[in-house]
Amino acid sequence: MVEKRRILSGMRPTGRLHLGNFHGALVNWLQLQEEYECFFFVADWHALTTDYANPEFIKENTYQMIIDWLSVGLDPEKCTIFIQSQVKEHAELYLLLGMITPLAWLERNPTYKEIQAELHQKDLATYGFLGYPVLQAADIIIYRANGVPVGKDQLPHVELTREIARRFNYLYKQAIFPVPEPLLTDTPLLPGLDNRKMSKSYDNCIYISETNEETVKKVSRMFTDPKRARRSDPGTPETCPVYAYHRLYNEPERTENIASLCKEAKIGCVECKREMAEKLVEALKPTREKREYYEKNPDKVKKIIEEGTEKARSEAQKTMELVRKALTLAD
Ligand code: TRP
Ligand code: SF4
Repeated sequence: MVEKRRILSGMRPTGRLHLGNFHGALVNWLQLQEEYECFFFVADWHALTTDYANPEFIKENTYQMIIDWLSVGLDPEKCTIFIQSQVKEHAELYLLLGMITPLAWLERNPTYKEIQAELHQKDLATYGFLGYPVLQAADIIIYRANGVPVGKDQLPHVELTREIARRFNYLYKQAIFPVPEPLLTDTPLLPGLDNRKMSKSYDNCIYISETNEETVKKVSRMFTDPKRARRSDPGTPETCPVYAYHRLYNEPERTENIASLCKEAKIGCVECKREMAEKLVEALKPTREKREYYEKNPDKVKKIIEEGTEKARSEAQKTMELVRKALTLAD
Protein backbone atom coordinates (compact mmCIF):
# COMPACT_ATOMS: atom_id res chain seq x y z
CA MET A 1 0.00 0.00 0.00
CA VAL A 2 1.24 3.45 -0.82
CA GLU A 3 1.29 5.52 2.32
CA LYS A 4 -1.06 8.46 2.36
CA ARG A 5 0.64 11.80 2.14
CA ARG A 6 0.74 13.54 5.44
CA ILE A 7 -0.75 16.95 6.16
CA LEU A 8 -0.22 19.07 9.22
CA SER A 9 -1.61 22.39 10.29
CA GLY A 10 -2.21 24.36 13.44
CA MET A 11 -3.89 27.45 14.81
CA ARG A 12 -3.07 29.64 17.73
CA PRO A 13 -5.87 29.56 20.31
CA THR A 14 -7.02 33.12 19.83
CA GLY A 15 -10.61 32.49 20.90
CA ARG A 16 -13.77 31.16 19.38
CA LEU A 17 -13.88 30.55 15.66
CA HIS A 18 -15.66 32.98 13.41
CA LEU A 19 -16.94 32.50 9.89
CA GLY A 20 -13.78 34.08 8.49
CA ASN A 21 -11.69 31.34 10.12
CA PHE A 22 -14.15 28.77 8.90
CA HIS A 23 -14.02 29.77 5.25
CA GLY A 24 -10.36 30.74 5.38
CA ALA A 25 -8.96 27.53 6.82
CA LEU A 26 -11.40 24.96 8.07
CA VAL A 27 -13.29 24.35 4.85
CA ASN A 28 -9.97 23.35 3.44
CA TRP A 29 -9.09 21.12 6.39
CA LEU A 30 -12.44 19.35 6.03
CA GLN A 31 -11.59 18.43 2.46
CA LEU A 32 -8.06 17.36 3.29
CA GLN A 33 -9.15 14.98 6.04
CA GLU A 34 -11.02 12.96 3.42
CA GLU A 35 -7.93 12.26 1.37
CA TYR A 36 -4.83 12.54 3.49
CA GLU A 37 -3.44 11.53 6.82
CA CYS A 38 -4.05 14.76 8.70
CA PHE A 39 -2.74 16.18 11.95
CA PHE A 40 -4.42 19.31 13.28
CA PHE A 41 -3.32 20.92 16.49
CA VAL A 42 -3.77 23.95 18.70
CA ALA A 43 -0.51 25.89 18.99
CA ASP A 44 -0.89 26.91 22.63
CA TRP A 45 2.83 27.44 23.19
CA HIS A 46 2.81 29.81 20.25
CA ALA A 47 0.07 31.81 21.95
CA LEU A 48 2.53 32.46 24.76
CA THR A 49 4.83 34.43 22.48
CA THR A 50 2.37 37.32 22.53
CA ASP A 51 0.40 36.52 25.68
CA TYR A 52 3.08 35.36 28.09
CA ALA A 53 1.93 37.96 30.63
CA ASN A 54 -1.70 36.78 30.52
CA PRO A 55 -1.62 33.05 29.91
CA GLU A 56 -4.79 32.31 31.88
CA PHE A 57 -7.08 32.38 28.82
CA ILE A 58 -5.05 30.03 26.68
CA LYS A 59 -6.38 26.79 28.16
CA GLU A 60 -10.05 27.70 27.77
CA ASN A 61 -9.47 29.13 24.29
CA THR A 62 -7.74 25.92 23.30
CA TYR A 63 -10.65 23.86 24.49
CA GLN A 64 -13.24 26.08 22.81
CA MET A 65 -11.29 26.01 19.58
CA ILE A 66 -11.27 22.25 19.52
CA ILE A 67 -15.02 22.17 20.17
CA ASP A 68 -15.46 24.50 17.21
CA TRP A 69 -13.32 22.24 15.03
CA LEU A 70 -15.39 19.21 15.95
CA SER A 71 -18.62 21.11 15.43
CA VAL A 72 -17.81 22.14 11.89
CA GLY A 73 -16.97 18.56 11.04
CA LEU A 74 -13.35 17.71 11.75
CA ASP A 75 -13.75 14.03 12.38
CA PRO A 76 -11.49 12.33 14.93
CA GLU A 77 -12.02 9.09 13.02
CA LYS A 78 -10.38 10.68 10.00
CA CYS A 79 -7.82 13.10 11.42
CA THR A 80 -5.66 13.48 14.51
CA ILE A 81 -6.53 16.41 16.74
CA PHE A 82 -4.15 17.40 19.52
CA ILE A 83 -2.61 20.14 21.63
CA GLN A 84 0.97 21.24 21.05
CA SER A 85 1.96 21.57 24.72
CA GLN A 86 0.88 17.98 25.36
CA VAL A 87 3.52 16.62 23.00
CA LYS A 88 6.73 17.67 24.70
CA GLU A 89 8.81 16.26 21.84
CA HIS A 90 8.05 19.46 19.90
CA ALA A 91 10.10 21.31 22.51
CA GLU A 92 13.03 18.95 22.18
CA LEU A 93 13.13 19.27 18.43
CA TYR A 94 12.70 23.04 18.72
CA LEU A 95 15.80 23.18 20.91
CA LEU A 96 17.84 21.08 18.50
CA LEU A 97 16.69 23.05 15.46
CA GLY A 98 17.66 26.21 17.31
CA MET A 99 21.26 24.98 17.21
CA ILE A 100 21.35 24.79 13.43
CA THR A 101 19.22 27.80 12.48
CA PRO A 102 21.29 30.83 11.47
CA LEU A 103 20.20 33.94 13.32
CA ALA A 104 20.07 35.86 10.04
CA TRP A 105 17.26 33.59 8.78
CA LEU A 106 15.12 34.66 11.73
CA GLU A 107 16.02 38.32 11.69
CA ARG A 108 15.10 38.73 8.05
CA ASN A 109 11.70 37.02 8.52
CA PRO A 110 9.12 39.55 7.30
CA THR A 111 6.45 38.37 9.76
CA TYR A 112 8.82 39.04 12.61
CA LYS A 113 9.31 42.63 11.59
CA GLU A 114 5.64 43.24 10.80
CA ILE A 115 4.11 41.80 13.93
CA GLN A 116 6.66 43.51 16.10
CA ALA A 117 5.69 46.81 14.51
CA GLU A 118 1.97 46.06 14.87
CA LEU A 119 1.99 44.96 18.46
CA HIS A 120 4.13 47.75 19.80
CA GLN A 121 2.03 47.93 22.93
CA LYS A 122 3.27 44.49 23.95
CA ASP A 123 6.90 43.76 24.54
CA LEU A 124 7.91 41.35 21.83
CA ALA A 125 11.64 41.72 22.17
CA THR A 126 11.81 38.19 23.52
CA TYR A 127 13.89 35.22 22.56
CA GLY A 128 10.68 33.17 22.18
CA PHE A 129 9.20 35.59 19.69
CA LEU A 130 12.28 35.55 17.50
CA GLY A 131 12.24 31.77 17.69
CA TYR A 132 8.52 31.49 16.83
CA PRO A 133 9.18 30.11 13.34
CA VAL A 134 11.70 27.58 14.64
CA LEU A 135 9.03 26.16 16.93
CA GLN A 136 6.66 26.15 13.98
CA ALA A 137 9.25 24.30 11.91
CA ALA A 138 9.55 21.72 14.69
CA ASP A 139 5.73 21.36 14.77
CA ILE A 140 5.73 20.55 11.09
CA ILE A 141 8.76 18.38 10.54
CA ILE A 142 8.38 16.33 13.70
CA TYR A 143 5.47 14.64 11.86
CA ARG A 144 7.48 14.50 8.66
CA ALA A 145 4.57 16.27 7.00
CA ASN A 146 4.47 16.62 3.23
CA GLY A 147 1.97 19.46 3.07
CA VAL A 148 1.04 22.39 5.28
CA PRO A 149 -2.26 24.15 4.52
CA VAL A 150 -1.82 27.78 5.54
CA GLY A 151 -2.90 31.27 4.68
CA LYS A 152 -0.66 33.66 2.76
CA ASP A 153 0.54 35.29 5.96
CA GLN A 154 2.20 32.03 7.01
CA LEU A 155 4.20 31.47 3.82
CA PRO A 156 7.46 32.91 5.18
CA HIS A 157 7.24 30.46 8.08
CA VAL A 158 6.76 27.48 5.83
CA GLU A 159 9.61 28.69 3.63
CA LEU A 160 11.86 28.83 6.68
CA THR A 161 10.69 25.37 7.70
CA ARG A 162 11.78 24.10 4.30
CA GLU A 163 15.20 25.64 4.71
CA ILE A 164 15.62 24.21 8.18
CA ALA A 165 14.55 20.74 7.03
CA ARG A 166 17.05 20.86 4.17
CA ARG A 167 19.80 22.09 6.42
CA PHE A 168 19.21 19.31 8.93
CA ASN A 169 19.22 16.64 6.23
CA TYR A 170 22.38 18.12 4.73
CA LEU A 171 24.28 18.48 8.01
CA TYR A 172 23.54 14.96 9.24
CA LYS A 173 23.62 13.35 5.81
CA GLN A 174 20.23 11.67 6.10
CA ALA A 175 16.93 12.45 4.48
CA ILE A 176 15.03 12.35 7.75
CA PHE A 177 12.72 15.22 6.99
CA PRO A 178 10.66 15.60 3.84
CA VAL A 179 10.73 19.22 2.67
CA PRO A 180 7.10 20.25 3.23
CA GLU A 181 5.02 22.08 0.63
CA PRO A 182 2.79 24.97 1.62
CA LEU A 183 -0.78 24.36 0.46
CA LEU A 184 -2.26 27.74 -0.22
CA THR A 185 -6.00 28.06 -0.46
CA ASP A 186 -7.41 30.95 -2.33
CA THR A 187 -10.62 31.16 -0.43
CA PRO A 188 -12.95 34.05 -1.08
CA LEU A 189 -12.25 36.55 1.64
CA LEU A 190 -15.40 36.73 3.75
CA PRO A 191 -16.06 40.30 4.82
CA GLY A 192 -16.98 41.14 8.39
CA LEU A 193 -20.12 42.99 9.45
CA ASP A 194 -18.51 46.34 8.60
CA ASN A 195 -17.17 45.17 5.23
CA ARG A 196 -13.57 45.05 6.50
CA LYS A 197 -11.76 41.75 6.83
CA MET A 198 -13.45 39.65 9.51
CA SER A 199 -11.24 39.84 12.54
CA LYS A 200 -11.70 39.56 16.27
CA SER A 201 -9.80 42.79 16.79
CA TYR A 202 -12.30 44.71 14.62
CA ASP A 203 -15.26 43.31 16.56
CA ASN A 204 -17.04 42.54 13.27
CA CYS A 205 -17.36 38.76 13.48
CA ILE A 206 -20.09 36.18 13.31
CA TYR A 207 -19.12 33.34 15.62
CA ILE A 208 -19.94 29.69 15.21
CA SER A 209 -20.64 29.51 18.93
CA GLU A 210 -23.12 32.38 19.12
CA THR A 211 -26.89 31.88 19.11
CA ASN A 212 -29.08 32.16 16.02
CA GLU A 213 -30.68 35.23 17.56
CA GLU A 214 -27.32 36.95 17.90
CA THR A 215 -26.49 36.11 14.29
CA VAL A 216 -29.80 37.50 13.03
CA LYS A 217 -29.32 40.66 15.04
CA LYS A 218 -25.79 41.14 13.74
CA VAL A 219 -26.90 40.65 10.14
CA SER A 220 -29.60 43.28 10.59
CA ARG A 221 -26.92 45.80 11.57
CA MET A 222 -24.57 44.83 8.77
CA PHE A 223 -23.11 47.37 6.36
CA THR A 224 -24.60 47.40 2.88
CA ASP A 225 -23.72 49.26 -0.28
CA PRO A 226 -23.12 52.79 1.08
CA LYS A 227 -24.50 54.27 -2.14
CA ARG A 228 -27.94 52.82 -1.37
CA ALA A 229 -28.96 55.45 1.13
CA ARG A 230 -32.59 55.20 0.09
CA ARG A 231 -34.51 52.18 -1.03
CA SER A 232 -35.05 53.76 -4.43
CA ASP A 233 -31.28 54.05 -5.04
CA PRO A 234 -29.91 51.28 -7.26
CA GLY A 235 -27.23 49.17 -5.54
CA THR A 236 -23.99 47.48 -6.53
CA PRO A 237 -24.20 44.06 -4.91
CA GLU A 238 -20.55 43.24 -5.70
CA THR A 239 -19.44 45.76 -3.12
CA CYS A 240 -21.98 44.77 -0.48
CA PRO A 241 -20.94 42.39 2.30
CA VAL A 242 -24.49 41.04 2.60
CA TYR A 243 -24.27 39.92 -1.00
CA ALA A 244 -20.98 38.11 -0.34
CA TYR A 245 -22.89 35.98 2.16
CA HIS A 246 -25.74 35.31 -0.26
CA ARG A 247 -23.12 33.91 -2.61
CA LEU A 248 -22.01 31.44 0.01
CA TYR A 249 -25.29 30.59 1.67
CA ASN A 250 -28.16 31.19 -0.75
CA GLU A 251 -29.05 29.17 -3.85
CA PRO A 252 -27.06 30.33 -6.91
CA GLU A 253 -30.14 31.18 -8.95
CA ARG A 254 -31.72 33.18 -6.19
CA THR A 255 -28.41 34.93 -5.60
CA GLU A 256 -28.28 36.11 -9.20
CA ASN A 257 -31.87 37.18 -8.92
CA ILE A 258 -31.05 39.24 -5.83
CA ALA A 259 -28.22 40.94 -7.69
CA SER A 260 -30.59 42.10 -10.42
CA LEU A 261 -33.23 43.19 -7.93
CA CYS A 262 -30.63 45.16 -6.00
CA LYS A 263 -29.30 46.85 -9.13
CA GLU A 264 -32.84 47.84 -10.09
CA ALA A 265 -33.73 48.96 -6.57
CA LYS A 266 -36.49 46.36 -6.46
CA ILE A 267 -35.46 44.79 -3.17
CA GLY A 268 -34.84 46.59 0.09
CA CYS A 269 -31.75 45.96 2.19
CA VAL A 270 -33.81 45.02 5.23
CA GLU A 271 -35.58 42.31 3.31
CA CYS A 272 -32.38 41.19 1.62
CA LYS A 273 -30.63 40.85 4.96
CA ARG A 274 -33.52 38.98 6.48
CA GLU A 275 -33.39 36.39 3.74
CA MET A 276 -29.62 36.06 4.05
CA ALA A 277 -29.80 35.65 7.83
CA GLU A 278 -32.36 32.91 7.38
CA LYS A 279 -30.14 31.00 4.98
CA LEU A 280 -27.09 31.49 7.14
CA VAL A 281 -28.78 30.28 10.30
CA GLU A 282 -30.13 27.29 8.42
CA ALA A 283 -26.67 26.41 7.13
CA LEU A 284 -25.17 26.72 10.59
CA LYS A 285 -27.84 24.56 12.20
CA PRO A 286 -26.01 21.22 12.18
CA THR A 287 -22.81 22.91 13.35
CA ARG A 288 -24.54 24.63 16.23
CA GLU A 289 -26.34 21.44 17.20
CA LYS A 290 -23.06 19.59 17.32
CA ARG A 291 -21.54 22.36 19.36
CA GLU A 292 -24.31 22.07 21.89
CA TYR A 293 -23.73 18.34 22.06
CA TYR A 294 -20.01 18.73 22.76
CA GLU A 295 -20.63 21.47 25.30
CA LYS A 296 -22.85 19.08 27.18
CA ASN A 297 -20.38 16.22 26.83
CA PRO A 298 -16.98 17.52 27.87
CA ASP A 299 -15.82 13.95 28.56
CA LYS A 300 -16.20 13.13 24.89
CA VAL A 301 -14.10 16.14 23.92
CA LYS A 302 -11.43 15.26 26.47
CA LYS A 303 -11.29 11.72 25.17
CA ILE A 304 -10.89 12.90 21.58
CA ILE A 305 -8.04 15.18 22.62
CA GLU A 306 -6.39 12.45 24.67
CA GLU A 307 -6.51 9.92 21.86
CA GLY A 308 -5.31 12.45 19.31
CA THR A 309 -2.47 13.53 21.55
CA GLU A 310 -1.41 9.96 22.11
CA LYS A 311 -1.31 9.22 18.39
CA ALA A 312 0.59 12.45 17.68
CA ARG A 313 3.05 11.74 20.48
CA SER A 314 3.83 8.28 19.22
CA GLU A 315 4.59 9.67 15.74
CA ALA A 316 6.69 12.47 17.23
CA GLN A 317 8.62 9.97 19.31
CA LYS A 318 9.47 7.90 16.27
CA THR A 319 10.93 10.94 14.57
CA MET A 320 12.87 11.98 17.65
CA GLU A 321 14.56 8.61 17.83
CA LEU A 322 15.83 9.10 14.30
CA VAL A 323 16.88 12.65 15.12
CA ARG A 324 18.84 11.67 18.23
CA LYS A 325 20.54 8.94 16.26
CA ALA A 326 21.41 11.29 13.43
CA LEU A 327 22.96 13.67 15.95
CA THR A 328 24.76 10.73 17.58
CA LEU A 329 23.39 11.72 20.96
CA ALA A 330 23.02 9.27 23.81
CA ASP A 331 20.01 7.00 23.53
N1 TRP B 1 1.77 30.29 13.19
C1 TRP B 1 0.48 29.74 12.94
C2 TRP B 1 -0.56 30.87 13.08
O1 TRP B 1 -0.27 31.92 13.53
C3 TRP B 1 0.12 28.64 13.87
C4 TRP B 1 1.04 27.47 13.74
C5 TRP B 1 1.93 27.06 14.67
C6 TRP B 1 1.14 26.59 12.63
N2 TRP B 1 2.58 25.93 14.24
C7 TRP B 1 2.12 25.62 12.99
C8 TRP B 1 0.50 26.50 11.40
C9 TRP B 1 2.48 24.60 12.12
C10 TRP B 1 0.86 25.49 10.53
C11 TRP B 1 1.86 24.55 10.89
O2 TRP B 1 -1.69 30.66 12.77
FE1 SF4 C 1 -26.67 44.67 -0.31
FE2 SF4 C 1 -28.92 43.34 -0.55
FE3 SF4 C 1 -28.94 45.96 0.00
FE4 SF4 C 1 -28.22 45.12 -2.40
S1 SF4 C 1 -30.22 44.89 -1.47
S2 SF4 C 1 -27.16 46.65 -1.15
S3 SF4 C 1 -27.18 43.21 -1.90
S4 SF4 C 1 -28.17 44.33 1.28
